[in-house]
Amino acid sequence: MRVGVLTGGGDCPGLNAVIRGIVRKGVQEYGYDFTGFRDGWRGPLDGDVTRLDIPAVRGILPRGGTILGSSRTNPFQRDGGVARIKENLAKQEVDALIVIGGEDTLGVAARLSDEYGVPCVGVPKTIDNDLSATDYTFGFDTAVGIATEAIDRLHTTAESHMRVLVVEVMGRHTGWIALHSGLAGGANVILIPEQRFDVDQVCAWVTSRFGASYAPIVVVAEGAVPKDGAMVLKDGSLDSFGHVRLSGVGEWLAKEIEQRTGKEARTTVLGHVQRGGTPSAFDRWLATRFGLHAIDCVRDGDFGTMVALRGTGIVRVPITEATARLKTVDPALYEEVGVFFG
Ligand code: F6P
Repeated sequence: MRVGVLTGGGDCPGLNAVIRGIVRKGVQEYGYDFTGFRDGWRGPLDGDVTRLDIPAVRGILPRGGTILGSSRTNPFQRDGGVARIKENLAKQEVDALIVIGGEDTLGVAARLSDEYGVPCVGVPKTIDNDLSATDYTFGFDTAVGIATEAIDRLHTTAESHMRVLVVEVMGRHTGWIALHSGLAGGANVILIPEQRFDVDQVCAWVTSRFGASYAPIVVVAEGAVPKDGAMVLKDGSLDSFGHVRLSGVGEWLAKEIEQRTGKEARTTVLGHVQRGGTPSAFDRWLATRFGLHAIDCVRDGDFGTMVALRGTGIVRVPITEATARLKTVDPALYEEVGVFFG
């Protein structure tokens, strides 16, 4: 049995831990051989492969990024993409493919598996934690830890100057990182894409914090949109999935706060630092377990399935269950956290 492995979409801490788990168990327990495909779906499209064996995965557990490389290539947007993939898998004598990715990468795996008979097993990843069917994705805990540390540090400088500090965190479509890091870091306002925000309300909260002799921290997810200001934020371009790119909400909000409250405001955009570096212990644990269970799916011939975390157990679900819709922040949960606003 030869198993192909690829990592697609935005990278995240823990990808290497999954690869290591897959290869270690696959080689040691089942005697499988592996082929690594480079740069997500580009690898099987172009037949670009790399050696994947025990020496190749040695020492990679604590390393961020992915030894296989990643891309957002979508074979369904390429002429003859599916045929090329099938041809290259056959050429490499690959019997099964483990696909580690988010919504878009796994969406391709689901279609290839269900419509074209390509035997795929999915492993969910994204720092955004917005994949349905799994309680958590690895990478999220690390990103929340990085954002929380940043918020902790911003409190002290905000207080020294009695300024507003706006922290923009990742999350194009969902506010999981904003919500978790904002709560953990003791932010005074948390703004998420799921709920349009009212700038006057934000300013009222900010003013009330200054009233208590405290410099407010505002955490805003990059995809959060003001009730009346969406046009200001759109730069008009579409990303590779056709989503409208919103840019600069943090910078925009700090200016609005300054104008409306007369208080000085600064913005910190955390950006890709949230995706970089070594994974947290939780993410290494989750990613490793996903890897170990993914290779068992291959052994069982259980294709079109994805491994997922439910409670403390790893289960198998159809890949389509994870990709059909995004897991968004429940309004009740947001409301619960709202007690700290202002
Ligand atoms: O999907 C994960 C994510 O980190 C988003 O939160 C973020 O908007 C996006 O990736 C950034 O992607 P890129 O690295 O392609 O700019």
